[in-house]
Amino acid sequence: MKYLIIGSGGREHCIAWRLISDGSADEVFVAPGNGGIDRRYRADIQPNEFKKIEAFCREKGMDMVIVGPEAPLVGGLVDHLEASGIKAFGPSGKAAMLEGSKLFAKSIMKKYGVPTANHWDFTGRIKVLEFIETVSSYPIVIKLDGLAAGKGVAVPSDKNEAVEFIRSNVKDDSRVFIEEYLEGEEVSVLGISDGETVIPLIAAQDHKRIFDGDAGPNTGGMGAYSPAPVLTGALMEKVKREVLVPTINGMKKEGARFRGILYAGLMIRDGKINVLEFNARFGDPETQVILPLLEGKLGDLFRASVDGNLSKTDISFKNSHAITVVMASRGYPGSYEKGKEITGLDQVAGDITVFHAGTENTDGKIITSGGRVLNVTAVGNSLKSARDRVYSEIEKIKFDGAYFRKDIAYRALK
Ligand code: AMP
Ligand code: GLY
Repeated sequence: MKYLIIGSGGREHCIAWRLISDGSADEVFVAPGNGGIDRRYRADIQPNEFKKIEAFCREKGMDMVIVGPEAPLVGGLVDHLEASGIKAFGPSGKAAMLEGSKLFAKSIMKKYGVPTANHWDFTGRIKVLEFIETVSSYPIVIKLDGLAAGKGVAVPSDKNEAVEFIRSNVKDDSRVFIEEYLEGEEVSVLGISDGETVIPLIAAQDHKRIFDGDAGPNTGGMGAYSPAPVLTGALMEKVKREVLVPTINGMKKEGARFRGILYAGLMIRDGKINVLEFNARFGDPETQVILPLLEGKLGDLFRASVDGNLSKTDISFKNSHAITVVMASRGYPGSYEKGKEITGLDQVAGDITVFHAGTENTDGKIITSGGRVLNVTAVGNSLKSARDRVYSEIEKIKFDGAYFRKDIAYRALK
């Protein structure tokens, strides 16, 4: 099998690594990829260049395309490829609206009885500011409707913060909603679906805030581990029954069958589950801890989803623990510098896998090219041993301004 993966992050490097290492693939190409991918297997094509992606698939004889990020999914890349007779893993543009419009996702959840926080929606700044005048208790949650690359959610702890976020982010025609603030522990459950059957993958916990102790602004994710002890077997069954199955069935009834990865961002408290958000793709960095634990061939799962055979497919996971720590550029998630040379990658012990995220390979040197730069990953018999291995090896990797959280997995280890 020949695969083309669309995207350039750690998630895409991990999917490529897994397809090769488990024998699913003869060749894996990545468009555009990053410095972790051998030059020969990179295609200089951006995720929004649908025609070029199609032409590349024909020219190189690709058997399947795996779409990593949300923007091309919402933009209809899978529809485009399927209409051209090319197999593609991921939801249609219509189904990807579960991520593309948070209000659409809320409407599906309400209609099909999926547990989620109450919300009040508005068009335009004036209406939402009027509503803020009536709010008496904080924190609240403010969400912009469309794709915002992780920057569309604020959790103001008082009225001033709420008004400031609204003034700088909500335009006269913006769709926006206020949501009840939920307490609890966050966990990500990714379900793979063929539109009929949905099977949850092992749960992972991401660390969204930039600083230790979950302080500071939200990021794309600073590290993750799997399994997440907050989601026991019985609770996982509940997630499947109350969240994944009704959503997949609901999307089918809406005429927008969901194939691919349905990622549920959940808040868990006292055995109660609420959905914070849906994504229509693999999580980043959750994927980097889920795929190392998968038994069998990843390619078989992609094929079963695309061909509608998931009901006949078993998915199991190793009885091990995986952790990934994100090395980021100083300043991220704000502004940061690029082009710093990374050294020490060849010093890292063989039990550690380093997925590249924001890197480039220029003249044989690996340099930084993004906010999240590397994902340093280990698998162990216990979470503690995996964590200790990552933190003892990560110091060997150096670049100017390297920053990483020192406390990934602290909730599970405390
Ligand atoms: P979202 O993109 O909707 O997952 O929101 C980003 C982050 O905001 C989540 O990972 C949570 O940390 C936080 N968040 C979102 N919705 C809520 C909520 N209703 N209650 C508490 N925190 C929330
Ligand atoms: N790690 C969060 C996400 O992929 O959206």
